[in-house]
Amino acid sequence: MIEAGAGRPLVLLHAFPLNASMWAPQREELASTARVICPDARGFGGSALPPDADPPSLDALADDLAAILDARRIEVPVVLGGLSMGGYVAMAFWRRHRARVAALVLADTKASADTEATAANRERIAREVVAAGTSAQLVEEMLPLLLGKTTREQRPHVYGRVKALIETAPPYAVAWAQRAMAARPDSFGDLRAVDVPTLVIVGAEDELSPPAEAQAIAAAIPGAELVTIDGAGHLSAMELPAAFNLALQGFVAGLPA
Ligand code: MLT
Repeated sequence: MIEAGAGRPLVLLHAFPLNASMWAPQREELASTARVICPDARGFGGSALPPDADPPSLDALADDLAAILDARRIEVPVVLGGLSMGGYVAMAFWRRHRARVAALVLADTKASADTEATAANRERIAREVVAAGTSAQLVEEMLPLLLGKTTREQRPHVYGRVKALIETAPPYAVAWAQRAMAARPDSFGDLRAVDVPTLVIVGAEDELSPPAEAQAIAAAIPGAELVTIDGAGHLSAMELPAAFNLALQGFVAGLPA
């Protein structure tokens, strides 16, 4: 859990298999105008995965966030942002705790459920990383997809940072999160009922949640704004933080007080 700044609560939920530290550039930029709260999903970063953890589900992660807000006595609705898996959790939070949401930011994410093949692949990875005792195989399997072509070719520092984050992802957390994502429902029905300001962001080079997914999300949510970031891939917030922050900052500044 990383927290900085004061004012309107802005929660940012990280991607898989990373942790809250991926939001460092957003925290730095937005802490002057908002109370930026970046939780670690259970098992990642500084958050423990209890041995008797609930069955894997994004609902459990959404309820974890509600408990985090309760513990901080945050009763006002928050601006809730999530990137990829973080977006899935934001949608689950909307389903379960919508009175606590003032606005949504859905970045590089999908509202559709997994196909059978994707869910089966997640189960394979879950079993393999636990058996291997390390998440290292995700560097080969996922890293090239997490970053856009431009970043892969021109931003070695971003590549190095993401690689280091993947390598430290605990295998049990990876397995739990993979199974939670595999179990997620289609969210389009819920999105059509969203009645808070919403910003949808996507990297133009996102291969995991391509721009067409973001367009479908923005089309489903009444009044949603869509920002496409050229030269960024799936981890747009890390790949081109200046462009991501500009969109996020502008959106937050334009929200009703
Ligand atoms: C993520 O970036 O959080 C993952 O790519 C999401 C997923 O595996 O669906």
